[in-house]
Amino acid sequence: MPASVIVDALWGDSGKGKACAYLSRKHDAALAVRAGIGTNAGASVTLESGELIKARQLPTGWLNPGTRVAVGSGVLVDPRIFASELDRFGIADRAMVDLRCAVITEDHIAAEQGDDHLLERVGSTCTGNGHARADFILRRARQARDLPELEPYLADVAAEANRIAATDDQLVIIESSQGTMLSLALSDDYPYTTSGNCTTAAALNDVGLNWRHLTDVIMVVKAMPTRVGHGPLPYELSAAEVERRGIAEYGVNTGRLRRKAAALDHDLLRYAAMLNGPTQIALTFGDHLDPRLRGARTTAAIGPEVRTVIAEVEASTGAPVTLLDTGPRLADMIELG
Ligand code: IMP
Repeated sequence: MPASVIVDALWGDSGKGKACAYLSRKHDAALAVRAGIGTNAGASVTLESGELIKARQLPTGWLNPGTRVAVGSGVLVDPRIFASELDRFGIADRAMVDLRCAVITEDHIAAEQGDDHLLERVGSTCTGNGHARADFILRRARQARDLPELEPYLADVAAEANRIAATDDQLVIIESSQGTMLSLALSDDYPYTTSGNCTTAAALNDVGLNWRHLTDVIMVVKAMPTRVGHGPLPYELSAAEVERRGIAEYGVNTGRLRRKAAALDHDLLRYAAMLNGPTQIALTFGDHLDPRLRGARTTAAIGPEVRTVIAEVEASTGAPVTLLDTGPRLADMIELG
């Protein structure tokens, strides 16, 4: 089982971090690598103890003690956030950053926070990612290898991921970020997108993993999709209705209330499946769809409404739903099929 990619079908914030932690533990993954844009992402996982883990730079695969973690060379690195995660998670002895990653500086963050187009029109997280990427493309960004404080963690992550994935018995898990519908060049919603594509192919490119190693694409589908920032959201609920149902969500990075939809748009799901080629689906936030599912860990708890949604998602994506997420805790998960 050489390499799996976890990718999001829609607008992100769907529990890719939880899926990465869950699968890293289940398979005792050798290496988890972050793909995606950079620190504009925010992943959160609640442990059995109730402790909430929030991550923006490193993949949550570190929650499995035997898993090393890395940042792929196509991902923007904010050295302050990298250092804070090493420290908070106590993983300095098993974390790597690709030496070629472009670096986000405080100037990039300040430039985004003062950029009315990004702030007002796009609804950017203003975490410096777009400006840092622009500098990288113009070949004037600094790279991880230029910063002395990153020196102990520098690695050729692409070489390491390909080496491990070439073995028969060790797994590499790639945790992508954002979501397919936020892809710069593949979403119809430009300019309401992020600064790169967020698909399976983009994730492989962010890491430098040879596609021949890929055996599984786990596409995460959020049962009641959310979107932060501007742009269309089919079946959007009013903020009052979201509040009434007790399913309000706030951004890990920005604290913004997430816009929330009542149902999935199956045209978009078909498009996401076409682009990503999922072999499995993780259906997340099932408890928002049916509150009786909250915290359930066995298939007996799945009611008819959720069973219907599972069947519809399988029909649209052509892939089986193998994981059903039922709550914030890491073990709030039902394995199917
Ligand atoms: P930026 O990539 O920070 O400039 O944000 C551009 C758009 O993508 C905005 O609508 C953001 O809300 C959205 N976005 C960026 N990162 C994430 C994420 O990790 N989850 C959800 N939305 C995101």
